[in-house]
Amino acid sequence: MSTTAADAVSGVTTGAGARPTWSTRLAFILAAAGSSVGLGNIWKFPYITGEYGGGAFVLFYLGCIAAIGLPVMMTEVMLGRRARRSPIGAMRYNSETETGGHRWGVVGIIATVTAFIILSFYSVVAGWALPFVVHAVGGAFTGASAEEIGGLFGSLVSSPGELTIWHTLFMLLTVGVSAAGVRAGVERAVRWLMPALAVMLLMLVGYNVANGAMGEAVAFLFQPDFSKLSAEGMLAAMGHSFFTLSLASGAMMAYGSYLPGNASIARASVTVAIMDTVIALTAGLAIFPIVFGNGLEPGAGPGLVFQTLPIAFGKMPGGVFFGTLFFVLLVVAAWTSSLSMLESQAAWLEEKGLSRSTGAIVAGVAAWLVGMTTVFSLNIWSDFAPLDAVPMFEGKTLFDIYDFLTANIFMPLGGLLMAVFAGWVMSRKASAEALGMPEWLYRVWLVIMRFVAPAAILVIFVANFAG
Ligand code: PHE
Repeated sequence: MSTTAADAVSGVTTGAGARPTWSTRLAFILAAAGSSVGLGNIWKFPYITGEYGGGAFVLFYLGCIAAIGLPVMMTEVMLGRRARRSPIGAMRYNSETETGGHRWGVVGIIATVTAFIILSFYSVVAGWALPFVVHAVGGAFTGASAEEIGGLFGSLVSSPGELTIWHTLFMLLTVGVSAAGVRAGVERAVRWLMPALAVMLLMLVGYNVANGAMGEAVAFLFQPDFSKLSAEGMLAAMGHSFFTLSLASGAMMAYGSYLPGNASIARASVTVAIMDTVIALTAGLAIFPIVFGNGLEPGAGPGLVFQTLPIAFGKMPGGVFFGTLFFVLLVVAAWTSSLSMLESQAAWLEEKGLSRSTGAIVAGVAAWLVGMTTVFSLNIWSDFAPLDAVPMFEGKTLFDIYDFLTANIFMPLGGLLMAVFAGWVMSRKASAEALGMPEWLYRVWLVIMRFVAPAAILVIFVANFAG
């Protein structure tokens, strides 16, 4: 397969001449891996693994990635490449070609809104890592007690001013790259940042192999004890598999829309999913040996990398260097993810006639503004629960609401609709042609889109509501 259905019409309906593509297949892989590897891998995966008991949770999570996440990723990349438009434009286009109407375009809207909301709070959380780089460089962890380190984190989140500075800085990093466009911005950035990320992570693991409690960490991550796997843990694993692969948020659809027509979607998606998984596990191998080696708690929750890990950095030889390395790594991983969240909106605004840079700036400023409500919900509005009267939302701050809405409602809903569209609404001929994979693999994909993914997503969805 050398062209896609939309290649023939691209430029006609989008107006502005040729749309960019990645310069090579590798560029797509780096960008998509950059999107998927983020706070989800380095901050969230280790702490939820800690909370849900280790090995069995990890195994279940790997199953979710392979059986549902990966096939859904192929679907998204396929829908994007077939249409060569922003997620909103792409779902409209696919809807029109398959049904004659544009009703399924709403799926693109849900995805874009999801990415927008996630970007708004992701920037605040990623912003936490910036002052920690400063603390690490300045030796603030050296010899510090748990209380002192908890205080660093506590005083950060309780200060609207400080949070605003770091949130603003992180959003500037994101918009600055995105405004330069797909090739000159995103592609150029990931070409540097992804190898740097890999090197930093390997250095951290290397240190641990030499000095940390590696055996204990390996046992914790890889020895399944199924008595520790709760229903809640399974739901968390499933939800996280979507988040970590950047699914149902238009990120993969947007990046897929720049994929050259002759690249194999299956191979590229498998590569990205493997990279994401390897990096999540490697992050576990970088973090838990330090945690165990210093007699700290693996189940510390969201504070694990900000409150627990720095204690260890403060005690270990070379802690200033490795602490700095770790927080720079966190910023880089988050940065390449936030670029992909902005992409769906920047691309859509471009289709609406704005220049690329204006589109990126407009979307970035809007996400920054919404992000400010997350900043305040961590301190001065921490008692403000605007949806207290709604059963599922009681006691939730704005930040909690954004997180809950995206992870527990919009992402499963978007993923479900995409699977149903690709599996049931699209003609087999169209999906087979757009995916361009071997017959047996196509059959497996089809069964997953038709039955496995919808059923699994419905289960988490319902269980989330029931819980
Ligand atoms: N996959 C990213 C992470 O693991 C988060 C993300 C979600 C990125 C949705 C893009 C879109 O942190």
